[in-house]
Amino acid sequence: MNHDVAYQQCMNAGCRATFGVTESLFACPKCGSLLDIRYEWERIAVPKRLADFGARWATRSNPLDFSGVWRFRELLHFCPDRFKVTQGEGQTLLQCADGVAQYVGLDKGRLHLQYEGCNPSGSFKDNGMTAAFSHASMVGASRVACASTGNTSASLALYASAAHMEAIVFVGAGKIAFGKLAQALDYGARTFQVEGDFDDCMARIKEVTEALKLYLVNSVNPFRLEGQKTIMYRVLEGLNWQVPDWVIVPGGNLGNSSSFGKAFGELKELGLIERIPRLAVVNSAGAPTLDRIVNEKQVRYNAGKFDADVIYKDYEWQDQTHLRPHTIASAIEIAKPVNIDKCLRALEICGGVVRSVSDADIMDAKAQVGRHGLGCEPASAASVAGAKLLIQQGVIGPAERVVCILTGHALKDPDATVGYHTGKYPKGKAVKGKRHFSNVPVPVANDTAALVKAIQS
Ligand code: F0G
Repeated sequence: MNHDVAYQQCMNAGCRATFGVTESLFACPKCGSLLDIRYEWERIAVPKRLADFGARWATRSNPLDFSGVWRFRELLHFCPDRFKVTQGEGQTLLQCADGVAQYVGLDKGRLHLQYEGCNPSGSFKDNGMTAAFSHASMVGASRVACASTGNTSASLALYASAAHMEAIVFVGAGKIAFGKLAQALDYGARTFQVEGDFDDCMARIKEVTEALKLYLVNSVNPFRLEGQKTIMYRVLEGLNWQVPDWVIVPGGNLGNSSSFGKAFGELKELGLIERIPRLAVVNSAGAPTLDRIVNEKQVRYNAGKFDADVIYKDYEWQDQTHLRPHTIASAIEIAKPVNIDKCLRALEICGGVVRSVSDADIMDAKAQVGRHGLGCEPASAASVAGAKLLIQQGVIGPAERVVCILTGHALKDPDATVGYHTGKYPKGKAVKGKRHFSNVPVPVANDTAALVKAIQS
């Protein structure tokens, strides 16, 4: 088959079928596996040094240089510029966080927080959405759809409103944080509250998109993951193009971790970095599928020859035992991650590890992030709680350079935050355990003397 400089390829080592980039496929039509975007690098004029991408900031009046995704466009070269849809995503920051470093047990100067809450819709999803929408516009799609724990739907809705496409989102009824639901509604997405959870929504959206020929933007869309690679490029940029020792990311549907592994594998192949950082993927203990598959069942990617049957049987066992995920970190309340194959590959590329953390630890870590200059939603704080655990376990040393990804803004889920501080969590979301950093609001009379007294006490 004749390819453009980019093409789609089945990731199944026994299949490896290839398809052009103008096809909208969300699984390999031959074997059903996930697809990757591949590039003929020798035909792409990739800048010789990473710093050359950073230099584009000087020409930021060009929207593609302003975008923190398209600034790196040669590394996701699947779409002509005229189709690119950008909302100024990726103006994110990497902050050295000594207060949080002390909490997790790292030396001063060794912890950085990559804050993706600065994106237009308030989460990292916009990195992927700009890429998926650019592809959607290239193939002439007009109706876009996703299943979501909230942030994907918010991001999809924002980009659809900007690109004048019809947005259709499936969310589990009562399962998504209000900030995210509010966004989907405000941006005008047709929002269907399905009686079920995220995994149900994911299964239904695959069937419905197939039946109605909608353009699917969940992370089974390989173009979306190309955009999410740029989070890692910006982490390197924030470290003056040095490679950290560890990148720690929350794990839900496992799109982010998958794209981070691909990003580092490609940068190494291109000679743009000399070594690859280690990756830690952190589940909530209430949704620990990856942890179980990797640590209990010992599944390894094994250069593509992994035991897929173990995963299949695990998902089947979940159905048989009616096992349902349950966590305050609703964004990662996912039990059947669709990208698990790719995540296993990322763990292999990066010498990765997987851990689970409790809701109580997630909420304490979130409060620490809030106290030290950045706020985040519960799922994001799993990365910080994961760092603390890995340092306690001696897997990460106190002098190593660690980057935790804060995936979403604090305002996404105010109910969880107020619940932590007051002890009155939203219905059905009570978190057991001590709230070490709770900041309880003080009731006081509408009276100056009473206020003065209250402040001074
Ligand atoms: N953090 C936040 C804030 C998220 O919204 C998500 C996923 C994750 C972490 C997990 O990332 O899926 O790449 O492993 N949210 C999806 C959604 C599933 O529908 O918004 P992942």
